[in-house]
Amino acid sequence: MGTQGKVIRCKAAILWKPRAPLAIEEIEVAPPKAKEVRIKIVATGICGTDINSMDTEQLSQLCPIIMGHEGVGIVESVGEEVSTVRTGDKVIVLCLPQCGECNTCLNSKNNICTEIRLSWKHLAAEGRITCKGKLVHQYIATGTLCEYTVIKEISVAKIDEGTPLEKVCIIGCGFATGYGAAINSAKVTPGSTCVVFGLGGVGLSVIIGCKAAGAARIIAVDINKDKFAKARTVGATFCVDPRDLEKPIEEFLIDMLNGGADFCFEVTGNTETVATALGSCHKDHGVCVIIGSIGSCSNKINISSHLFFSGRTLKASVLGGWRTKEEIPKLVSDYMAKKFNLDPLISHTLTLSEANEAVQLMKSGQCIRCVLLP
Ligand code: APR
Ligand code: ZN
Ligand code: ZN
Repeated sequence: MGTQGKVIRCKAAILWKPRAPLAIEEIEVAPPKAKEVRIKIVATGICGTDINSMDTEQLSQLCPIIMGHEGVGIVESVGEEVSTVRTGDKVIVLCLPQCGECNTCLNSKNNICTEIRLSWKHLAAEGRITCKGKLVHQYIATGTLCEYTVIKEISVAKIDEGTPLEKVCIIGCGFATGYGAAINSAKVTPGSTCVVFGLGGVGLSVIIGCKAAGAARIIAVDINKDKFAKARTVGATFCVDPRDLEKPIEEFLIDMLNGGADFCFEVTGNTETVATALGSCHKDHGVCVIIGSIGSCSNKINISSHLFFSGRTLKASVLGGWRTKEEIPKLVSDYMAKKFNLDPLISHTLTLSEANEAVQLMKSGQCIRCVLLP
């Protein structure tokens, strides 16, 4: 390819400080070292988590940082000891790695590989990417809002050669997170009743998962009614804006669903909605799943203890519980086999240079997912 072994100069969308706009800058991407892979990014989505993090003060410790974590591309080169991908392979970036060696990877059925924190630190400390002489961090050890990146082999998986890359990038986080929360974390049962709070890309993917699992009723809740049409398209049987009700949404749902839902999902990103979602679960057996990040890490969740004088379960789910390196490529194959449709989730397509427009679209609530192409 002519670039192997050399530093690549290319574009990236960089956040220099929290709440600032993204700056499209030239970066230098070093060749991959042992167990690392350099990837030409072909498509990347912007996720609600990027948007929330960009506004938190905590991110200042990691600035300058390349945002983005939903990416697909083609392997440009690999470092020594890399065995699972090679130059020219189509790959999906894994914002949660699967190292195959830690306690989780060896002993658990869940997916919180302990390498996730270490990967952030190692990549940054070793300075694979620089901009204007400064070391650049990569958001969630990936940072896909760029033309080329270097990441660890454990954070990338090969996908089918025939995959069209423009759409499947959103499987890397948003789709896998929502769909897996229904299938793996909640284990939605046929004939059940589900309630989904928040109808962004992740919430709609939860609905797709609930429907695939055979749920009989899927209630979609959002404070933005513009989200209802899409929610119905992907499987919601009833849509409601809590602000239109005369009583709290949990009371409304408990009455409507004869005691509450079998499964509730918090997908708004707000701490307050967690108690609402838990309170909307059936007192006897309802399961409430909190999905992804809820605001800044210092936030507290305020839940009245009476909600737990019951048989309810409250649980969390990260990246849909998928063991990423093994299972995300299978989701891509399922998409190719038309087991689900990603079209309703991709509302906009722009270029990397238009990353700020994409952020504004997400903030305005007009956008489900915006995919950025080079
Ligand atoms: N009640 C109901 N819906 C709400 C509320 C609320 N109090 N607050 C926000 N919402 C809705 C928004 O109107 C929006 O439609 O929640 C939706 C959130 O969607 P996005 O911002 O597009 O986020 P998404 O990418 O789907 O991710 C959802 O999961 O992983 C986390 O950090 C991520 O916070 C994000 C959340
Ligand atoms: Zn691991
Ligand atoms: Zn995400």
